[in-house]
Amino acid sequence: MNRFEVANNIIGKAGAMLRESLLQEFSVRQKSGPQDLVTDWDQRIETFLRKEIHSAFPNDVIVGEEYPPENNDRKDGSAAWYLDPIDGTTNFISQRRNFAVSIGCWDGSQPLFGLVLDVERQVLYWAKSGGGAWQDQTPLHVSSRRQMEELLLTTPGVQPTFLDEHPFQKQLLQLARKVRGVRCLGSVALEICEVAAGRADLFVAMRSSPWDHNAARIILEEAGGAIFTMEGGPLPLDRNSTVLALNCAGLKWAVLNS
Ligand code: IPD
Ligand code: CA
Ligand code: CA
Repeated sequence: MNRFEVANNIIGKAGAMLRESLLQEFSVRQKSGPQDLVTDWDQRIETFLRKEIHSAFPNDVIVGEEYPPENNDRKDGSAAWYLDPIDGTTNFISQRRNFAVSIGCWDGSQPLFGLVLDVERQVLYWAKSGGGAWQDQTPLHVSSRRQMEELLLTTPGVQPTFLDEHPFQKQLLQLARKVRGVRCLGSVALEICEVAAGRADLFVAMRSSPWDHNAARIILEEAGGAIFTMEGGPLPLDRNSTVLALNCAGLKWAVLNS
């Protein structure tokens, strides 16, 4: 199996394990505080994904949320995998829906493919570089909305985006007043896929990690969208960052100057 086939296979198995887990009790622990939670399933799923990837591609770099990076010094011919075993752990715990498994694979700075599985809905968003973006077997396209008052904004949390003090707070409050509406889903990967699918028009996050966005960004760009930092620069691959995801690169300055 090639890398994409392995990813497609293991994301399906991880989804089945997580749907099964919804029928059981599981323990919840705080990481940095009550808004940063982890369950046994986050660790169990990441361990499963790492083991499968490592046995098929032992030299590949693996970066995931729950464990330290594997094979950090990259060898020739290897690729880098970015894994979020559960993106939207709070939703997993409280809602039992609106959470995803996210797998992105890159060759240096070149995207190879991204897969984001909406576990509860059993919907797979995926893209191979240059091959378009897909929701299961249906092609995905961003919306064609361009006027500020037509745009639906999605962001993973009210507090980090609008209530906490940060350099973009004033600008984002202004933006929130101008757009058609604001939605908070609570999963970076699924929210970027919402923009890719044309069900939202832009997405902002004040903090996001490589495993949160490195799969979905490939899907968004293949669907015709564009992704930046909140400064308007390129989104880094290997460090935490702000995120601005758009249905069209041309909207960037209108949004940043709002
Ligand atoms: C989190 C979710 C959440 C976002 C956080 C992420 P996790 O990921 O995507 O919506 O606000 O910044 O860390 O912890 O559920 O994998
Ligand atoms: Ca995450
Ligand atoms: Ca996670």
